[in-house]
Amino acid sequence: MTRNPFHDGLRIEPTPGAAALVIFGASGDLTRRKLLPAIYQLTRLHRLPPRLKVIGVANTPLGDDGFRQLLADSLKEFARVEGPDEVAASLAHNMHYVQGNLAEADLYERLKSKLAEVAPGAGVLYYLAIPPSLGPAVATHLGAAGLTREPDPVQFRRLIAEKPFGTDLPSARSLNHLLHEHFHEDQIFRIDHYLGKETVQNLMVFRFANGMFEPVWNRRYIDHVQITAAETVGVEQRAGYYESAGALRDMVQNHLLQLLALIAMEPPVAFTAESVRDRKMDALLSVQPIINPATGAGLDGVVRAQYAEGWVGGHVVPGYRAEPNVNKASTTETFVALKVQLDSWRWAGVPFYLRTGKRLPKRVTEIAIQFKRPPLQIFKQVSPTHVASNLLIINVQPDEGISLRFEAKLPGTRMQLAPVMMNFRYGSTFGGEVPEAYETLLLDALIGDPTLFARHDFVEAAWALISPIHEAWAAQKAADIPSYEAGEWGPDEAHALINADSFRWRTQ
Ligand code: BG6
Repeated sequence: MTRNPFHDGLRIEPTPGAAALVIFGASGDLTRRKLLPAIYQLTRLHRLPPRLKVIGVANTPLGDDGFRQLLADSLKEFARVEGPDEVAASLAHNMHYVQGNLAEADLYERLKSKLAEVAPGAGVLYYLAIPPSLGPAVATHLGAAGLTREPDPVQFRRLIAEKPFGTDLPSARSLNHLLHEHFHEDQIFRIDHYLGKETVQNLMVFRFANGMFEPVWNRRYIDHVQITAAETVGVEQRAGYYESAGALRDMVQNHLLQLLALIAMEPPVAFTAESVRDRKMDALLSVQPIINPATGAGLDGVVRAQYAEGWVGGHVVPGYRAEPNVNKASTTETFVALKVQLDSWRWAGVPFYLRTGKRLPKRVTEIAIQFKRPPLQIFKQVSPTHVASNLLIINVQPDEGISLRFEAKLPGTRMQLAPVMMNFRYGSTFGGEVPEAYETLLLDALIGDPTLFARHDFVEAAWALISPIHEAWAAQKAADIPSYEAGEWGPDEAHALINADSFRWRTQ
């Protein structure tokens, strides 16, 4: 990692120098929903360089005033800021807008002049909040306009790329290749917003700042692992993107594989970006190919399905095919469950089950580590049922925390056993505000700390696992895919997948 004048110690001190954040796609949804509220919160907490300039770039004719109005609207809707607000006013004062077509060179000359005018000598962070198809043109034009060169470490030039990063292995490779023509790897910050979540960062603290878990964190003690990312929402207004993405690309290739890597990785030698990302990379590379490259077999370890009409939260909700802008015969999957195995000394023989879906009964993202039963059942005469094995649940959201299930003696004169839970909850333990993932990630990119961003090789290795599944699905030429009723935990096939190994999905 390049040392940076703004980076004081491990994390987050107010940055003293001048910096500019250039948002491509400034009039879009991501800017309104996530970026402007995150910039506002960071400004409020004095985490940003005091003279940070925010330059919005988009084709919509807004002007400086229109962009500032967009800030006010965004804060009202997404940050509950109503009426006069000093922080918002000071932020608005530092906001500028450059209008133009992202595909035309002239725009980048005007951007260059604007940067020279409002942020001379500043470091610049470019944020690609645009459809992925436009990313290559922007990167190329930035390069051609000389806007990617770093004259000195203070005047850094960095780029945040939003997901999806490619749609398959070849496209991700060529995108990496193109970006590397204009930016060094340490200038590129590929966002996976899961990595910015507090509980996901805490996974590393839990594993590597405590001595007692690491000795049991392996095949000798762990039976299997379940990673679940369940949502109650449907596709919402995102069919344009989701129809060609599906749950496997949308959630598994990035978020779920990142969680898997954090659970499975070896301890890094230091908490540095390269060490952490090297160990995550090793973990990902140890995952056995899901689809056998020689035979194409392996789809029996992957279940896909699509939600049909059903009940969620007490309301009838439409099936996926009846959602706005969805093809009436769509075979896009909104649910995926899969089993993966890792070829490593630590994990050989321990299955990892991953599942994600929309319109499931509950919003919950969690990792459940199921430990093996004690080797000897000395209580079998007194315990009416089997002794339950220990279970560690890392709750990523919404009820952020960690729980451990263990056996206890039921009070009474007879020896009887019952499972009990020991719980740690972020909210009740620490109180206060938990930063949004985007706040953490924006700040890290400004500081120049890539620890929580996806490296080029990780993204490609993730696609190398996932793309063969898409290819195998395409080769199947299935006329239809299984469905599940909205409000159910996926299709029967998902239960069959895990039941075949004599396990059951955890019901939250
Ligand atoms: C996004 C996906 O990356 O993650 C969405 O594109 C999904 O489809 C979202 O809803 C889930 O994020 P979170 O933070 O709500 O778990």
